Amino acid sequence: MQYSIWDKDFSAWLIAARSEQVTKKKVYKRKLMKREIVLFRNKDGEVAALKDQCPHKGLPLSQGHMRDGNVVCGYHGWAFDVSGSCVKGPCLNPNETCPTVKAESYTVKEQDGWVWLFWGSDEKVLAEGPPSFPQEKEFKWFELEREIKAQPHFILENSFDCTHACFVHNTYFRNGPVQLANAELKETDYGMHVQTREEDGRKVRITKYLPWKGKEVYHTDEYFKPFTAYVNYHFGLAKHRIILTCSPEDENTTRVYTRTGIQAGPFSSISAWVLKYLTPVIVAEDIEAIEGQARSYSEQGGHYGQMKDADVPAVWMFAIYRRFFENRETDSYRTKQIQYRL
Ligand code: FES
Ligand SMILES: [Fe+2]
Repeated sequence: MQYSIWDKDFSAWLIAARSEQVTKKKVYKRKLMKREIVLFRNKDGEVAALKDQCPHKGLPLSQGHMRDGNVVCGYHGWAFDVSGSCVKGPCLNPNETCPTVKAESYTVKEQDGWVWLFWGSDEKVLAEGPPSFPQEKEFKWFELEREIKAQPHFILENSFDCTHACFVHNTYFRNGPVQLANAELKETDYGMHVQTREEDGRKVRITKYLPWKGKEVYHTDEYFKPFTAYVNYHFGLAKHRIILTCSPEDENTTRVYTRTGIQAGPFSSISAWVLKYLTPVIVAEDIEAIEGQARSYSEQGGHYGQMKDADVPAVWMFAIYRRFFENRETDSYRTKQIQYRL
């Protein structure tokens, strides 16, 4: 069902870019929370985010270029530094001082290979800084970035909706339902933690391709308010992590940053190589489902139907998401055990 965050007043750190996308040579243009922004680095490598509009006569700064660590507007050559201050106006009367007008700037922080932008006004959230998702060295990591035509909750809920994998991902991943899964749900101060154990991992299609087939399959799925899902899969001896963060662009579009890590002992590099090609295929299957669902509710209206045990993790995640945006935070956290076929 539809749920809008656009009339809500909230504070959070949002991913504005991957670190490697922001350089000293070229401005990086991005839309975030309906704002057009440009990101760049100064000579010291410090990152900045400015509104993509020159404060002189409105030309998008993204139509300009970089020089000496400043962004130079393409219309009359005014140059702006990382704070948005004008540091040069080439055509000024020699008696005039540099314009004091500033390009609007945003607070950004680079962490764990992402550039996070602070959205909102809550000083506490600002002081806490972005959530930390370090890339542990024993894992091989790769990144994926996609624009999805759906609101963030549809995308996040998908991570907590395990049974879709039996149907949406029945080519490479799952061939189920083939067994029972037992899940333990816990609401937490940061969001939610779900641990799911599968009775017989040997029956799951993907385990057939692994050299240590026959070992247990279990996964923990965590929700970090407001926009991150963190999925840890254990396939026997292999560990597979996906950190998925939604970055809203406008009412219809969400940019999704996905970081995948694999640890499979001596097979880590080869597994990461295979997954790097396989993951976009699996993600495309999710996108098709999510965009179909979002389009249907947006054009036809309607609500979710009857929720069964297998739907509880996604239902809880959505409830916690709504509480966050409606400022209805609580400190009494629910727990629950569920069982369903997977
Ligand atoms: S519009 Fe940017 S310098 Fe004039
Ligand atoms: Fe999926």
